[in-house]
Amino acid sequence: MINEKISFEKLINRALDIRKMSYAPYSNYTVGAALLTESGKVYTGCNIENASYGVTNCAERTAFFKAISEGERKFSAIAIAGGIVEQAPVEYAYPCGVCRQVMQEFTNRNFNVIVAKSHTDYKVYRLEELLPFSFGGESIR
Ligand code: THU
Repeated sequence: MINEKISFEKLINRALDIRKMSYAPYSNYTVGAALLTESGKVYTGCNIENASYGVTNCAERTAFFKAISEGERKFSAIAIAGGIVEQAPVEYAYPCGVCRQVMQEFTNRNFNVIVAKSHTDYKVYRLEELLPFSFGGESIR
């Protein structure tokens, strides 16, 4: 358990569910993310592609931006699941560098990044493991 409100397994199921909402007609690679706040609320996100490829938004950032725009500032975990459209994930979908940087802006040392193939097959990392020697607000204050 990450906190008493919701288990890793439930958070992963939310990521798997929202993955179905992905808009990925160019890559056919769909991603779902479920972001857990410290208070136990979940914000979900999917990848949203664009014909102008660089405009694409990843699932993790969709979830973060939804939460931040609703006033949330404290997060405990994010679950991520991705793979070829309409297929169960066969690999762990690790967050891209841009999403790792967004996570580091809004999280602390205890933040868990969960990459999942299913609700029973997953790995848990601390953001620091995925983004060591990071650049953050403290670097420029
Ligand atoms: N994608 C994500 O949603 N999250 C990541 O961390 C990596 C990549 C999406 C973006 C694009 O729609 C598709 O996966 C293929 O790159």
